Amino acid sequence: MEDERDHDTISSSLPSLSKQLTGTTLGGSADVPVVDLSVSDEDFLLHEVVKASEEWGIFQVVNHGIPEELMRQLQVVGKQFFDLPEAEKEIVAKDGDFEGYKRKYLGGINNWDQHLFHRLSPPSIINYKYWPKNPLQYREVTEEYTKHIKRLTEKILGWLSKGLGLPREAFTQSIGGETSEYVLRVNFYPPTQDSELVIGAAAHSDMGAIALLLPNEVPGLQAFKDEQWLDLNYINSAVVVIIGDQLMRMTNGRFKNVLHRAKTDKKKLRISWPVFVAPRADMSVGPLPELTGDENPPKFETLIYNDYIDQKIKGWALEDLPVY
Ligand code: OGA
Ligand code: NI
Repeated sequence: MEDERDHDTISSSLPSLSKQLTGTTLGGSADVPVVDLSVSDEDFLLHEVVKASEEWGIFQVVNHGIPEELMRQLQVVGKQFFDLPEAEKEIVAKDGDFEGYKRKYLGGINNWDQHLFHRLSPPSIINYKYWPKNPLQYREVTEEYTKHIKRLTEKILGWLSKGLGLPREAFTQSIGGETSEYVLRVNFYPPTQDSELVIGAAAHSDMGAIALLLPNEVPGLQAFKDEQWLDLNYINSAVVVIIGDQLMRMTNGRFKNVLHRAKTDKKKLRISWPVFVAPRADMSVGPLPELTGDENPPKFETLIYNDYIDQKIKGWALEDLPVY
């Protein structure tokens, strides 16, 4: 029984192939909510972020406090890394784990990306061998960005907690506080002639708690809502917030773990910089007791986060989706 429930829990958050195939109609207008974080009325802000998380599971934030210049620098060092000769990039290539540089496209029509993946925080789990040494400023810029992205993540998690009537620290603590894991992925999607066919990142929900994504100016990110794929508008200097599986599970399904994907562009290079925020691997994560009760019994099993990852990856393999 328990096994079955586990399986249901996880498969319900998986991209199903049929959804990917039938949901290809484009054209819905991009109504993904935009939240201005500079408003002084906190109650209004709580309401906005909670509503966006319940209805969409994805929203953009503006006036978020991350300096524009720093965002630009992060984009510059990322692009400089990918512009290096292949041999130079191979220095930080993956060697068995998920961290490192994933080389050039090797085949298939899904996941037409190269990427660079590495941990950012906490300091004790950082493997600097996967951080590029070239360009020289890579480390300094990335460390500075990490400080800001952590601050913003904690603010957003705080508003989401308070907005549900919980103490401000509830979600941050439930994923391990200072020990929760921040991981950066630089997605590099070269242009493709067959951009209608070639998917940059196949439909998926993010398995962690929340992700904060910085895109370049080339649109491509799409969210699945009401049986349609909707394009996200590019807003200069906005950060895209994506609710992942664990916030969906902790809220007993109240927040949506949005299904999303990335298209490629016919002519332009698309790059995105998501930072994934996840529970510490050994933490048990499930519906919070404060958000469940007789009227609202837990819909999801409490699982060690590491076990959740294993099961989700197994599910991906079953659906013949690439594992990354
Ligand atoms: C991801 C992702 C979307 C994008 O890396 O998990 O959803 O816009 N990327 O690159
Ligand atoms: Ni994603």
